[in-house]
Amino acid sequence: MYNVTSMNEKEPQFNQWYESTAADDQLLRDAQANELEQKEEVTLRPQLLNDYIGQSALKEELRVYITAAKQREEALDHVLLFGPPGLGKTTLAMIIANEMAVHIKTTSGPAIEKPGDLVAVLNELEPGDILFIDEIHRLATNVEEILYSAMEDFYVDIMVGQGPTARAVHFPLPPFTLIGATTRPGMLSKPLRDRFGIINSMQYYNADELQQIVTRSADIFAAPIRSEGALAIALRSRGTPRIANRLLKRVRDFAQVQGKKAIDKMIVDVALKKLRVDDKGLDETDHKFLQTMIDFYNGGPVGLNTISANIGEESETLETMVEPYLLQIGFLQRTPRGRVVTEQAYQHLGIPYQTNF
Ligand SMILES: Nc1ncnc2c1ncn2[C@@H]1O[C@H](COP(=O)(O)OP(=O)(O)OP(=O)(O)O)[C@@H](O)[C@H]1O
Ligand SMILES: [Mg+2]
Repeated sequence: MYNVTSMNEKEPQFNQWYESTAADDQLLRDAQANELEQKEEVTLRPQLLNDYIGQSALKEELRVYITAAKQREEALDHVLLFGPPGLGKTTLAMIIANEMAVHIKTTSGPAIEKPGDLVAVLNELEPGDILFIDEIHRLATNVEEILYSAMEDFYVDIMVGQGPTARAVHFPLPPFTLIGATTRPGMLSKPLRDRFGIINSMQYYNADELQQIVTRSADIFAAPIRSEGALAIALRSRGTPRIANRLLKRVRDFAQVQGKKAIDKMIVDVALKKLRVDDKGLDETDHKFLQTMIDFYNGGPVGLNTISANIGEESETLETMVEPYLLQIGFLQRTPRGRVVTEQAYQHLGIPYQTNF
């Protein structure tokens, strides 16, 4: 007999099935887009020091250390790179490996959960190889401690067994180079920091360097671009190559859809307006950050945690992604009593200047 009830029951099931398939499709599309972005990131990454644009002081210094280490047939001294996200730390680590003609093993602070995980990674290294640890400030303390002897004298002592039968096993390692990258150098412990022979901060890129990076990337994408177009993107990239490349990709989409032969300043303006990136490269989060300080705290001084609670972004995100650039362009000041919005920022936002001081 035809069963109406079960038919009715089936309907929501069918909908559920259909919805989850749509969601799966979305997931799949996201994964594919992600994979594509990563592939593009790989092709955009310069491979050698000569192709790495900007950071000239750091580059020249590294060139000397790399040449000297190669002449002596030694591993390069351990390198610590710090600076805001997207300035090219990972890229530089890979370039160092290429220049030294050694393998590079890449991992990150949060990915190494236990001392054993680190020992396993160290165990795979060959003489001269590079171990790159991204976000090194996020290593667990007991993992970090393993690094001390590994970095200084190329060995680890690991405990084997438990209770009365536990014993330390001395485990020699090949000479290797640790490259650590961090966006938060202040969070690195002193013993770890002291074990790096080469410590360098990455600087924001100037407009000229970013223009070169945009031009180079457009070339790799085979997307024709005018020099004024490349400069317009450069000026709105917050001194950051990753942002420059990201904006270029979006502008390229607009140019393509609008049938433009080449990316010019006009299409950059159109695209960035749509993306709500202003003429200083500030996005919605930057605006929210400054506007909250002005509207609720008269421009400060106000603590970062208070701003964070107000705009619903984690204070770590604000500290690493938002603040450094606002400080760099003089829109924000750090005072012992908290953050303060500067007159320049008021001017940029078109708000009459007022101050608590
Ligand atoms: N000096 C440079 N010249 C050309 N392209 C660069 C340069 N630096 C970075 N890039 C480009 O910018 C992108 C981001 O660089 P990278 O991933 O190395 O940044 P990062 O400092 O490691 O960032 P994070 O802190 O988020 O890990 C890369 O795709 C790379 O192609
Ligand atoms: Mg990186």
